[in-house]
Amino acid sequence: MNQTTTRLAVAVALACGAAAVQAQTKAEVIHWWTSGGESAALKELANAYKAAGGVWVDSAIAGGEASRAAAVNRIVGGTPSTAAQFNTSKQFHDIIDAGLLNNVDAVAVKDGWDKMLPAPILNAIKVKGHYYAVPVNIHMPAWFWYSKSAFAKAGIAAEPKSPDEFFAALDKLKAAGVVPLAQGGQPWQEKLLFDGWLAHAGGSELYLKFYRDRDAATVQGPAFKAVLTSFKRLKGYVDPGSPGRNWNDATSLVINGKAGIQLMGDWAKGEFQNAKQTAGKEFGCFPGFGPKSPYIIAGDVFVFPKTTDAAQIKAQHLLASTFTAPATQVAFNNKKGSIPIRTDVDAKGMDACAQTGLQVMKDSSRHLPNSEMLVAPDVAGALQDIITKFWNTNQSVDDAAKAMAAAIKS
Ligand code: GAL
Repeated sequence: MNQTTTRLAVAVALACGAAAVQAQTKAEVIHWWTSGGESAALKELANAYKAAGGVWVDSAIAGGEASRAAAVNRIVGGTPSTAAQFNTSKQFHDIIDAGLLNNVDAVAVKDGWDKMLPAPILNAIKVKGHYYAVPVNIHMPAWFWYSKSAFAKAGIAAEPKSPDEFFAALDKLKAAGVVPLAQGGQPWQEKLLFDGWLAHAGGSELYLKFYRDRDAATVQGPAFKAVLTSFKRLKGYVDPGSPGRNWNDATSLVINGKAGIQLMGDWAKGEFQNAKQTAGKEFGCFPGFGPKSPYIIAGDVFVFPKTTDAAQIKAQHLLASTFTAPATQVAFNNKKGSIPIRTDVDAKGMDACAQTGLQVMKDSSRHLPNSEMLVAPDVAGALQDIITKFWNTNQSVDDAAKAMAAAIKS
């Protein structure tokens, strides 16, 4: 064999080798992170995976419901992705029960997830002793985000410390000609607003009586009906452009000072940062009314569809260990607006809102599991339908309470 053919043979062998290694760690990841802040954060996960030797294939599908449905269709259709995003919840428990997911026990045990993860997160991902998802963050879905300039214009000197003070602030914003409450008119956002308002205005006990104890009598009681009444009162502070609006477009109204305040998950913070705004300077954030407000724990995970393909399993394990690594956790959560799932990371560089969140996470008496950790997707879906109907029609509080009592009991 002459020199040229030898060199060619070596080159081909190297290329094949490289291709083989690439195939070994090629990971197609389905997710719904399409907003400016979300895409910037996702890049941190993808870059960390690439730095670990992986090949990232990005499958972004806008909207959580659409993305999850697409992931399940691919699984059931026999062409699963390597990984897919779900919320830290019961959303993927049906496909676990159907035997359609791989577990990542090997990574979880090696990296000590039992010690590393907070109980609400561990409870959502560990089923029958196996770890079926990698958590990537702790999101709190019911923060208040406000525009400092709008608050100044309206003469609001302090963050509201009670529902009454909140309505007083909304009245001042209205009087100042600012959209008081920035709201996206989509069912999932209306449910998120309700869940947050139930916790902040009704309190932890009422929230747990509803979502954990599924106590129908409570739903038809005066305290719960008072929450429904004040929830509907919020509608009076939302602008006519709200119907169909995406959450991040509502956040943009606050970023631009056109609206005063938004109740939204801390994924909204990713949008402020993407707009080069700083917590405490152009915008403010508070996790609830007063120093003991409830802190709803939610977040994102990636599940790993069933496969026996050794290369895909290797890629799934590499995703799981890369996503939970301390450096990835800080880089990703800094841009995502959430806080890391592990406490042994250097979070000093995270902003004021994150510092508040990290502080609250140390006080488990304030923790509340998000509703989708407590009720199955079909019940959550039924409640979402009831809430969006109540928000968008003249349905009475009594009728809505009756419908919710029936749905929560089912
Ligand atoms: C949530 C998810 C967040 C955020 C939000 C808006 O379900 O947990 O990470 O991105 O949807 O898309």
